[in-house]
Amino acid sequence: MKVVGGRASQVLASRVAAALDCELLPCEFRSFPDGELYTRIDATTLDGEPVAIVQSLTSDTDFVCLLQLIEACEGLNASKISVVIPYLGYARQDRRFRSGEPISVRALTRCIFADEVFVVNPHSPEALKYFENARSVEALDAAPLLGEHFRKTKSVELVVAPDDGAAALAATVAGHAGVGYDVLEKTRLSAEEVEIKPKTLDVAGRSVALVDDIISTGGTIVKATSLLKELGASEVHVACVHAVLVPGAATRMLNAGVKEVVATDTLETIFSKVSVAELIARRLADAATTTTTTTSK
Ligand code: R5P
Repeated sequence: MKVVGGRASQVLASRVAAALDCELLPCEFRSFPDGELYTRIDATTLDGEPVAIVQSLTSDTDFVCLLQLIEACEGLNASKISVVIPYLGYARQDRRFRSGEPISVRALTRCIFADEVFVVNPHSPEALKYFENARSVEALDAAPLLGEHFRKTKSVELVVAPDDGAAALAATVAGHAGVGYDVLEKTRLSAEEVEIKPKTLDVAGRSVALVDDIISTGGTIVKATSLLKELGASEVHVACVHAVLVPGAATRMLNAGVKEVVATDTLETIFSKVSVAELIARRLADAATTTTTTTSK
């Protein structure tokens, strides 16, 4: 197997190639004067060889790059095209919230033609069913790796999810860290006032890890951190799978009193302390030796 790294996932792709002990094909990415993306895989043929393309989809250009790489691999005669999407953007737009809106994640993912697709912690499991042109689609779960990180560092005594949407993720992280978990609960007291508190556990005097799948503006984390501090948490650590981090998000979180941010390398940031490369490599290797793959569609 050969590995190709898209422009958003060069470092992770090189780690996956190293874990698989296979070649990472060099690529060229640049823009034409009018802004169109130029992409080239530096190879003459992939005849008879399977290829894995690793590309996170944060920006619109990342989507274009992935589509170009898939087409380039077809042109190079790859025997099988596996697409690894460490971070699937647009997954929060997974339904029509108002009439006339697109299901954006469907609009984009159905353009992806591949033999198999692996997505690390898609925001919504719904998103996977929209890969209408992939033979199989599977989610990979990075939560155990975040849990292992905290088990090794012994830095937290409790894991907390900021909302119900992150509860399953927090439960897995806590299980692997060997600590308990709780979910923050929002109760509306009046039209203007809400109360947010942990459902069951007391955080006073304890070191807590707030866990979410995505951190974008940092707004959710800032709000939850203030609350945990008010409730007497001694330290607030933050963990996420996908550190999207719009400009200012990191500063906002650190100013709110967050002790540290731990993220995976699905997106390459200063907080990428846990790598998903082995997880991806193991699954690609397993899929290469089995004729059937799990489909979540
Ligand atoms: C929302 O449903 C997600 O799980 C995250 O909580 C959200 O994307 C975080 O966004 P932000 O950092 O902008 O609050």
